[in-house]
Amino acid sequence: TNSVVIAVDGPVAAGKGTLARRLADKYGYAYLDTGSLYRAVGAKVLRAGGDPADAGFATRMAESLEDSDLTSKDLRSEAVGLAASKVAVVPGVRAALLDYQQRFASQPPGGKPGAVLDGRDIGTVVCPQAQVKLFVTARDEVRAGRRHKELMDKGENVTFERVLDDLRRRDEQDRARSAAPLRPADDAHLLDTSDLAIEAAVAAAVDIIARKL
Ligand code: C5P
Repeated sequence: TNSVVIAVDGPVAAGKGTLARRLADKYGYAYLDTGSLYRAVGAKVLRAGGDPADAGFATRMAESLEDSDLTSKDLRSEAVGLAASKVAVVPGVRAALLDYQQRFASQPPGGKPGAVLDGRDIGTVVCPQAQVKLFVTARDEVRAGRRHKELMDKGENVTFERVLDDLRRRDEQDRARSAAPLRPADDAHLLDTSDLAIEAAVAAAVDIIARKL
């Protein structure tokens, strides 16, 4: 269809979610946090007492994913994030989630004229035809600082070093996998948010989008 798609990819805690949500608001587009799908699969595996690295089990959990799995409260925890990046290497899991994401992009809910999707492989695999592709990055320490603050605010008591370590481990796993690895699409615009407040990051993204649409 002729729905406009904005792809927002990048590593852990680069600011993708906040930016993508703000862009969706600004343009009146639908927003999909694709990481929450992988998190829901990871959480479902953990709840069932399974091993996230067990490809067959993780694939069955992805194929039987329901709306109620997406609203579970523990999705944003570090443990679920790590489980998500383990199930995300499994091709069967990725295949099970692909159709939902592509349908969201081509027929955004609520009859909206466009969609913003954030994740790791939106510009490369899910929506290679997206009109705008942003690849959002920030220095490791900056990302860990943001994630650490978010966790502390929620009452999860973790050290900065632990968060930095988890984030590097998760990025490494996301970059090294053979199925849809984390990488910028050839036609992606890089946006480093290390020294940008959210308003400035939104303004920079809007500049890029204005040149593409
Ligand atoms: O974005 P978020 O940190 O919530 O994603 C959790 C994990 O899900 C990522 O570390 C990554 O392994 C996986 N993921 C993915 N592809 C996406 C979105 C997330 O592989 N499009």
